[in-house]
Amino acid sequence: MVKAPGRVNLLGEHTDYNEGFVFPMAIDAGITMAGALNRSGVINLYSLDYDAESRFPTQEILSSTTEQWTNYFRGVCKEFQLLGFELQGLDVVIQGNVPQGAGLSSSAALEVAAAVLLRSLHGWDYDDVELVKLTQRAENDFVGVASGIMDQFASMMGRKDHALFLDCRSLEYELIPTPFEEQDYVVVVLNSRVRRGLVDSAYNTRRQECSDAVQLLKPQLGEIASLRDVGMEHLPLIEQLPGTLASRARHVVSENDRVLKAIKALKAGDLVSFGQALTASHQSLQYDFEVSCPELDLLVELALEVPGVLGSRMTGAGFGGCTVSLVPRPQLALFEERVTKNYEAQTKLQAEVYVFSASPGAQVLI
Ligand code: GLA
Repeated sequence: MVKAPGRVNLLGEHTDYNEGFVFPMAIDAGITMAGALNRSGVINLYSLDYDAESRFPTQEILSSTTEQWTNYFRGVCKEFQLLGFELQGLDVVIQGNVPQGAGLSSSAALEVAAAVLLRSLHGWDYDDVELVKLTQRAENDFVGVASGIMDQFASMMGRKDHALFLDCRSLEYELIPTPFEEQDYVVVVLNSRVRRGLVDSAYNTRRQECSDAVQLLKPQLGEIASLRDVGMEHLPLIEQLPGTLASRARHVVSENDRVLKAIKALKAGDLVSFGQALTASHQSLQYDFEVSCPELDLLVELALEVPGVLGSRMTGAGFGGCTVSLVPRPQLALFEERVTKNYEAQTKLQAEVYVFSASPGAQVLI
């Protein structure tokens, strides 16, 4: 039996596919799977949440249009096979409590849980970071979503009471203690309940714009490989790019800088500066990267109106999904009541409130 968590990204948005820095934490909501080898050459999946089952032969792992929830598992199986691992038949039961379509990485949790389960049941010797890369390939190549590596990395490598500082170029990472609790703050995630409709096409457009900006900066900056190679000192050059590309690049470059500074602040126990970085990140995502939406902007605005709140921003890919805010624990009840009431009055939507604590990454339970 294995479990893999979802994640909330605290800072570093739309930087992972630009080989930049991210700072997510694994959350106390996840996907649990129980499984056993059956040596029949058939994989049987049963979802407790959907009360649905699916079976497919290990010899022919194809993506399913009618049972899309199984494609994450299928993709992970396929990626192991492509590496030459010999897949046995197995029976698997799946259950989860990560809110879906909310930007909390329920799909990454599924992939990582599947990968850890398969590794454990077969007794394969395969490194954790390689496993993360495998699950990303399952998402990119099999499921067909062009995501970066942040979500799977956080789900695999998270640790209780820590957030994960990841360099998406070298994949070096550092687990950093989160001093929220000891200073009496909580990480509050608000689900706008706006379905992330535009997200796939807009996500791909943003990726393209970032790589276009790199191409146009090459004559001045030489052989840069990604926006990771562009620093704050190059902002005057960025301003000379065509308008949209300038804005996109400005977001990525400033966001990388914010992550580095915010982590320094966090290590010094300076939650005020950390919170300010969250809010600055939101503004950059709203105006420069243009991946927010009116409902997310409203949630951030309402959150910041509550006295004592240190920072607030949209989290994840954007166009709906969730915000994350740093709230003084004594203000939690007031925060919840005020923000959800005013949000509903203005949008007719009922925001969901989750208080997450930094949780362990994927683990074999028994
Ligand atoms: C989605 C992707 C991640 C990352 C974020 C934006 O969650 O899956 O890889 O790109 O969007 O930061």
